[in-house]
Amino acid sequence: MTLTSASPETTMEIGRRIGACLKKGDILALQGTLAAGKTTLTKGIALGLGISEDITSPTFTLISEYEGKIPLYHMDVYRLDSPESFIDLGVEELLYGNGICVIEWSEKVMSELPSSAIIIKMGVVSPSERSITVDNWPYEEFSA
Ligand SMILES: Nc1ncnc2c1ncn2[C@@H]1O[C@H](COP(=O)(O)OP(=O)(O)O)[C@@H](O)[C@H]1O
Ligand SMILES: [Mg+2]
Repeated sequence: MTLTSASPETTMEIGRRIGACLKKGDILALQGTLAAGKTTLTKGIALGLGISEDITSPTFTLISEYEGKIPLYHMDVYRLDSPESFIDLGVEELLYGNGICVIEWSEKVMSELPSSAIIIKMGVVSPSERSITVDNWPYEEFSA
């Protein structure tokens, strides 16, 4: 399914609806260029998971962990130079653990993700519009 968002608030709302559907073990592979809205969508996903803490971009920390009804592991792998260095971070216990993983710049590590990963491709359509395409979604369609 492909959605179009005309504002950061709408992108967050779409994220919130996605987050409200998720179950432990889900992996969301976020793809798209800088400023496509990956972190904004993740803020909404966290809201949908009932996380009240403010989500910040893990560009430098690589992995941030948030406590909610289900733990959220928010990763940004832009700075990694290989899929192997992703595994070297020790992510396997997160990927196959009891939380939800959201991975920004997942293009870089797709070879290390299970085939069940939900893929969300984001694109810049205009200064204020973003396309959001969700593939491999395992739940009922949500209305957005
Ligand atoms: N429809 C939209 N959805 C999301 N962000 C938008 C939208 N329109 C403009 N923006 C802007 O684009 C930027 C998105 O930033 P961010 O979510 O950090 O992207 P990424 O994590 O993909 O680099 C923000 O500055 C935001 O204000
Ligand atoms: Mg980001």
